[in-house]
Amino acid sequence: MKPIPILFLASLLAVSVSCTTERKPSTVGTTSEVERRVDQLLSRMTLAEKIGQMNQVSAGGEVANYADALRKGQVGSILNEVDPVKVNEFQRISVEESRLGIPLLVARDVIHGFHTIFPIPLGLASTFDPELVEAGARVASVEATGQGVRWTFSPMLDIARDPRWGRMAEGSGEDTYLDTRMAEAMVRGYQGDLSDATSIAACIKHFAGYGAAEGGRDYNSTFLTERQLRNVYLPPFEAAVKAGAMTLMTSFNDNDGVPSTGNAFLVKDVLRGEWGFDGLVVTDWNSMGEMISHGFGEDRKDVARKAMEAGVDMDMMTYGYLSHLEELVRSGAVRESDIDQAVRNILRVKILLGLFENPYVDVEAGQAVQYAPDHLAAAQKTAEESAILLKNDGVLPLDPAAVRNILVTGPLADAPHDQLGTWAFDGEAGHTVTPLRALQERFPGKVTYVPGLAYSRERRDRFDDVVAAARRSDVILVFLGEEAILSGEAHSLADLNLKGSQSELLAALKATGKPVVATVMAGRPLTIERDLPNCAAMLYAFHPGTMGGPALANLLLGDAVPSGKTPVTFLRTVGQAPLYYSHNMTGRPYNGETLLDDIPLEAGQTSLGNTSYYLDYGAYPLFPFGYGLSYTTFAYSDIALDRETYATDGTVTVSFTLSNTGTRAGTEVVQVYVRDLVGSITRPVKELKHFERVTLAPGENRALKVSIPVQELAFVGLDGVKKVEPGEFQLWVAGDSASGTGVAFNVK
Ligand code: BGC
Repeated sequence: MKPIPILFLASLLAVSVSCTTERKPSTVGTTSEVERRVDQLLSRMTLAEKIGQMNQVSAGGEVANYADALRKGQVGSILNEVDPVKVNEFQRISVEESRLGIPLLVARDVIHGFHTIFPIPLGLASTFDPELVEAGARVASVEATGQGVRWTFSPMLDIARDPRWGRMAEGSGEDTYLDTRMAEAMVRGYQGDLSDATSIAACIKHFAGYGAAEGGRDYNSTFLTERQLRNVYLPPFEAAVKAGAMTLMTSFNDNDGVPSTGNAFLVKDVLRGEWGFDGLVVTDWNSMGEMISHGFGEDRKDVARKAMEAGVDMDMMTYGYLSHLEELVRSGAVRESDIDQAVRNILRVKILLGLFENPYVDVEAGQAVQYAPDHLAAAQKTAEESAILLKNDGVLPLDPAAVRNILVTGPLADAPHDQLGTWAFDGEAGHTVTPLRALQERFPGKVTYVPGLAYSRERRDRFDDVVAAARRSDVILVFLGEEAILSGEAHSLADLNLKGSQSELLAALKATGKPVVATVMAGRPLTIERDLPNCAAMLYAFHPGTMGGPALANLLLGDAVPSGKTPVTFLRTVGQAPLYYSHNMTGRPYNGETLLDDIPLEAGQTSLGNTSYYLDYGAYPLFPFGYGLSYTTFAYSDIALDRETYATDGTVTVSFTLSNTGTRAGTEVVQVYVRDLVGSITRPVKELKHFERVTLAPGENRALKVSIPVQELAFVGLDGVKKVEPGEFQLWVAGDSASGTGVAFNVK
């Protein structure tokens, strides 16, 4: 946790909480009315009051500590206060005791649920179900607003292609299109009708390129070219802006030498200039101050000026604006008109949220919605759709009637806090249902629990207790992975194997000859290649959230059928990172050449094929992007395009038949990939352009059609202009990024 500085002297005034809980109807008005209100308010503000709006502080301790600053109008936003009584008191002081009565924006990192915790965002992405993710974001906003939060720092849209980076957990993974769809869904879910008291403003972050940290080490520099930014990293942000995202956060990293909080190209030229964003831009936590450590500014005054020049409206926790902007304006280094623009962006969000009409939260009603049954049900359904079946030799689903004695083991079997994952500030272990608890409820008297390892990092030489229990059981359910603390911000790892003696535990279980079903909970794709042979089946659940236990029990028992797909490539070994499906084609693509193990030890220097691969691990991952099994099987046939040639303003329509070739109902995530064969620059070997979930009864064949506007194939080429380059293309319809046979078409 971060230290919470108390910057303001405690006020001696004791203040009593008395605020109305009645909600007045929203009267935020039309766009021009909103702008008029913004301008009217701005015209009444002193320079100091304007600068106060641009200052965000973290709450901590007593409200009285902040009262003086609030009264003076020195705070525009508060983060990290979720006690609704305190929130109301903060608002009351701002609204009733400051000169202009401007309410606060109360912010919190509500990242994958507020109290009811959903799977981590990487797990949300593995559902490939934007509608469900949108519904989850709505649940989060209903609960968060119930405690006074009206602004969340979510969704995180950083493309992440290196699982060493701990924050891969917080985003949608490696793919631009999947990330884009999730971004839009989350923005819609959080914001709904913004002035509704159950809506929160979304904050798209971290702008930009933060996920490309060199070596997967958090906060590290990135070196993305403008073309790479525009083709891979920025499209989710642009789509989220189009979907109405009200706020955006600049990132910690410097890209090609320029820290984002001082990057006018990103904020002014692209975000505001090209995309027309009129929302609020906030720094990341002290990222203005960190420009001093970057060596990008001399002192706080210098970096405050640079952030202003870049077009950043609000300062999170540097106090650079509060301390230096007045002086910078007086000296002529910063124009007051630029400050006016920043304040406009902040006031606009406050007006649109209806905060002037409804600054207070109804404490009692707000409590009533926390952990509501429909919220828990949504979290459970999401966890069910999120889990990915990586291996199944037929042991799953378990037959409940045949189960007499289940051994539950492993460090994640009963880890209520850890299954919530990273950034679950408000999730509570007491409300979390673990797999152990769910299975015990389901099979009273039939579950034996021997943890084996209390923590994922624990080392043990012998597992006699577990093995003895395993011998008495007829099935072994082992829950492995990494605790929440091993992923997330500042939690990067250089070794992605199962930690501690988990692999040894699994091997000991396998040696009993009993069927072993492994479930992995983690914040990233771990390198589990050596563990796969030691289990009959493996479910990968990421961190599944509050209702992870019942969701996994349903999946193991066949009451739910796995449908999740990998939102990132699963590596065989960490040394392959970064490895992602939509890489460019090299001049020497791998062609199945010899691996080191196949070369006699005595062989001298020889040509091994001269293509792009690792001698020891080849070129392929353990599991490709988009991969996941079901309890049934699917087949694709009759794949045909409606034409051979399309105009650049045309639409490619592909028809195909999807068949459920197994004996159970199941849901397939149909994926459509495209490759542009020749471009003005080298192009990815495949790019996802469409996905949808299709549920089929056993034996059912369904004729389906997918349409993709040719404009979706546009990219920024050599001339820097985004457009479709005519020529030859290939298209695949398949159940993952490594399957299917391409069909050809032309664009003229
Ligand atoms: C993180 C942000 C987060 C902010 C506020 C920072 O350390 O990078 O993602 O929103 O803190 O808590």
